[in-house]
Amino acid sequence: MHAVRSDTVEKEGPASDGPHTVGPATDGSVIAIEHVFKRFGSNVVLNDFSLAVGKEENVVVLGKSGSGKSVLIKCIIGLLRAESGQISVPGQNIPDLNHDELDRIRAKVGFLFQSNALYDSMTVRKNLEFPLRRHWIDLSQEKIDSMVTEALGNVNLAHTVDMMPEELSGGMSKRVALARTLILKPDIILYDEPTTGLDPVTAKEISTLIVDIQRKFHTASIIISHDMHCVKLVSDRVALLDGGKRYWQGKYEEMEASNDQVLKQFFE
Ligand SMILES: Nc1ncnc2c1ncn2[C@@H]1O[C@H](COP(=O)(O)OP(=O)(O)OP(=O)(O)O)[C@@H](O)[C@H]1O
Ligand SMILES: [Mg+2]
Repeated sequence: MHAVRSDTVEKEGPASDGPHTVGPATDGSVIAIEHVFKRFGSNVVLNDFSLAVGKEENVVVLGKSGSGKSVLIKCIIGLLRAESGQISVPGQNIPDLNHDELDRIRAKVGFLFQSNALYDSMTVRKNLEFPLRRHWIDLSQEKIDSMVTEALGNVNLAHTVDMMPEELSGGMSKRVALARTLILKPDIILYDEPTTGLDPVTAKEISTLIVDIQRKFHTASIIISHDMHCVKLVSDRVALLDGGKRYWQGKYEEMEASNDQVLKQFFE
């Protein structure tokens, strides 16, 4: 029943020591998820789930609705605590970290919420300043201004700086949320359904932006998506979450060519 099980993440040497550089996990992966269990009461959501993400790699996690994709991402960022298993991000085991340690990790691991989670009562500028003031407390206003301008420029939305979130379209909101994630220069970005609810043209723009960001900032990412156009564009590898486990992983093209019924249903 299980199709290809390729553990093809290339082994990498140690990452360079830049100020914002996340070091690799011990096996050369930037994110190493091993034997993770997570349940809510009797609802077992992650049941011995493992996945590794290499340096500068985009891995798409696919799965049916309710299969545990968002729970997985929340466990990686420490918003939910895995009961057992290792989640090694920046060489540290997330389930072992206390509140302050998790806070520091979140400056390096960007998370793009499905809902964007922009603050409605703040301008775009204030939304982008927020993580900077929270994580990098010693910055001058001049430096903050230039970082806000640069981050918005990276998503081609410099002109929105004084707008309110309600004035933005769905695609613009997504890009502003991405700029807010990028402003801390994360080494890892986790995307929860980045194109859901967007029209096909805007969805393609966001997918292209995800690839541009990977190339420009050398980020490693997990991208949750059902949108197979997005999956095709952004994925270096696809992992399928089913029954709480990694049911399959491989290249998009291998998935497309597979006769496995579980895989095929994502193309229907
Ligand atoms: N905080 C929570 N408390 C209790 N149960 C939860 C909680 N969060 C998620 N769950 C349960 O975990 C399971 C997986 O939910 P999750 O949100 O990860 O699904 P998903 O794969 O992201 O689905 P979708 O594609 O619809 O977003 C569901 O059964 C859900 O009810
Ligand atoms: Mg979800």
